[in-house]
Formats: sequence, structure tokens, C-alpha cells
Amino acid sequence: DPELVAEGEKVFRKCQACHQVGEGAKNRVGPQLNGIVGASVGRIEDFRYSKPMAELGESGEVWTEDNLAAFLAKPRDFLKGTKMSFAGLRKEEDQAAVIEYLKSFEE
Ligand code: HEM
Repeated sequence: DPELVAEGEKVFRKCQACHQVGEGAKNRVGPQLNGIVGASVGRIEDFRYSKPMAELGESGEVWTEDNLAAFLAKPRDFLKGTKMSFAGLRKEEDQAAVIEYLKSFEE
């Protein structure tokens, strides 16, 4: 849905202080997010994740639309001890839109 992707691009402004996505995206405060939906949690070798996020990845957890929405709604409730200092996206439509936007970028 191109309209949802466009909406998600606006929502992603809240993420851009810390994250890049798209061609040439680099790790900043947060890891680059290309291909994140369907990827293993904590997939980037040279990014220093918090211990809980690294452990979640080691347990085999994969980012799905569902767990990503839950994480983005309230990062610190989803994963106690995460170093993602972001209050969260309260609105379900914002969660869905930004996920759709992220899905438009491949690995
Ligand atoms: C981690 C998305 C906002 C900093 C992550 C991860 C995702 C994500 C999917 C997990 C990445 C992975 O497994 O490789 C988003 C989205 C945001 C957002 C969509 C906006 C809605 C922010 C902001 C900051 C931030 C504003 C900085 C203030 C981080 C950090 C991590 C992270 C440091 C690593 C967390 C850890 O190791 O516990 N983010 N993020 N993010 N993000 Fe965000």
C-alpha cells in the first residue's frame, strides 16, 4: 500500500535521530534497518547491542510485524534493559505505517 508507505516515511522522522535505512544506510546511535522485517534480532555483527537484545537474538528471535509493533509501541516494556531510548509509538496506525515503510527496503 503506497499510501501507508508514505505515511510511514513521515513516522520514520522520529527514528532518524538514531537510525538510517535505504541505500548506504550506516549504523549510528542505532543499527541500520535495511531488511529488518524477517531478520534475526540483533543481526549486525559490528553493532554493540544491549545484553538483553543480544540475548534475544541468540535465542533465535526474528523480527516479525507483530513483535516489531509491540517493540515500537513501548520498547522498554517489550525488552527490559534495551538501550533504545525511545518512548514508543502510541498509535497502532503509526506502528503499522512505519513497519510498512521499513518493509520497502531490502537487505
Ligand atoms: C534498536 C527500530 C527509534 C536507538 C532498534 C531495532 C529496531 C528499531 C527494529 C532492533 C534492530 C536490530 O535488531 O538490529 C526503530 C524505529 C524507531 C526507532 C522504527 C522509530 C519509530 C529509535 C530512537 C533511538 C533508537 C529515537 C535513539 C534515541 C536504538 C538503539 C537500538 C535500537 C540504541 C539498539 C537497542 C539495544 O541494543 O537494546 N530500533 N527505532 N531507536 N534502536 Fe531504534
